[in-house]
Amino acid sequence: MRTERKYYVLTFMTIVLTVFLLGTCVREPFRMRAEEVRGREAYVLKGARIYAEQCVQCHGPRGEGSVGMPLNRAELKVDYTTAGGKAIYDKIYMAVDQGRPGSVDHPLWAKAPDGKWISYTAMAGWGRAAGGPLDEEALKAVTLFVMKPQGDQWSLIGDIDLAPIPGADYTVDESGKLPLPDAQGVDPAINERAKELLRHRTHTQCLNCHLVGARGAKVGPDLTLFGRWGVDQAFVERFIKYANQPLPNEADRYVLPHAERMPAYWSANRAVIGPALNLEKPVVSEGPYYMLRFREKFTQEEVSALATYLLGLK
Ligand code: HEC
Ligand code: HEC
Repeated sequence: MRTERKYYVLTFMTIVLTVFLLGTCVREPFRMRAEEVRGREAYVLKGARIYAEQCVQCHGPRGEGSVGMPLNRAELKVDYTTAGGKAIYDKIYMAVDQGRPGSVDHPLWAKAPDGKWISYTAMAGWGRAAGGPLDEEALKAVTLFVMKPQGDQWSLIGDIDLAPIPGADYTVDESGKLPLPDAQGVDPAINERAKELLRHRTHTQCLNCHLVGARGAKVGPDLTLFGRWGVDQAFVERFIKYANQPLPNEADRYVLPHAERMPAYWSANRAVIGPALNLEKPVVSEGPYYMLRFREKFTQEEVSALATYLLGLK
């Protein structure tokens, strides 16, 4: 009798233990998933901060592209743990880590008829091996930021608390002038002339949108190392005169119309602007995010001095 009860108790305890263990086994993957999701969100937020500081000026606050191609493309929004996602992860990671050479196929960035994105301008590598500021964790963060499958990460960019875009700085030195770097291999007279033009912010306006050295704003791209972008004098002079306005010649046949390329930054309702942009109802642009065309405003001497100076910044 007593041995039988012992058996009952033992069996009962075994069942309880089995159920408990089974329960943990079943729960464990869920718990890991929750941790994985939290981890990924932390990476996305870290990536957003880096993007707002380093990438926003060339790829746009909504990833819609400006100097570099759009990064809010549907084909990049893939779960990185899937087989297809791994390949996209590697592609983005490597592009950011090592940089990209640009392409002489076209004078601007454009979507070619075969669907390939090409860009005249090169992108320098951001990884440590390429002399950039980003370590492996930072590269992973910014890659997972770009790839977020839901596509809602772009609303973080410019959020004052989460991922602010650095503000403008016009602090002068002891002599009362905006300190600007010297261009290399450039006639000292051109250097001085270009700096004088840049400091004249109501005339040239460049520093209202661009950072040169530690001064200026981050509305357009940071031009501090512009000499490394792989572009030439003719390109820069043309760009200062016409910005990225498509030229009416054969070589520009597949440049998207300006309105489609850079639709509306910081739109009134901060709508997420993606490939499915509704051009019937264009959102009102709040920010001065288009590069202005200075053709009518500057003399050729001014354009040439600015272009020569910028290309000497290395
Ligand atoms: C100075 C402008 C500039 C900045 C700043 C910049 N990029 Fe780029 N990026 C480019 C250009 C230009 C290209 C295209 C180059 C080419 O066609 O070879 C590019 C290409 C890329 C690509 C490849 C996209 C594709 O479809 O293959 C990725 C990814 C990318 N950039 C991410 C970033 C990230 C992340 C940052 C910030 C850490 C960043 N970029 C900062 C200009 C820039
Ligand atoms: C209202 C803001 C604004 C002003 C003012 C402005 N820019 Fe820009 N700039 C931009 C933006 C935005 C881009 C991004 C490229 C684009 O428009 O496609 C850009 C791009 C550039 C580029 C890079 C072109 C490339 O793709 O390699 C150069 C060079 C440049 N600007 C020079 C100048 C100079 C010089 C001035 C002053 C004469 C100036 N910018 C004034 C906003 C501005």
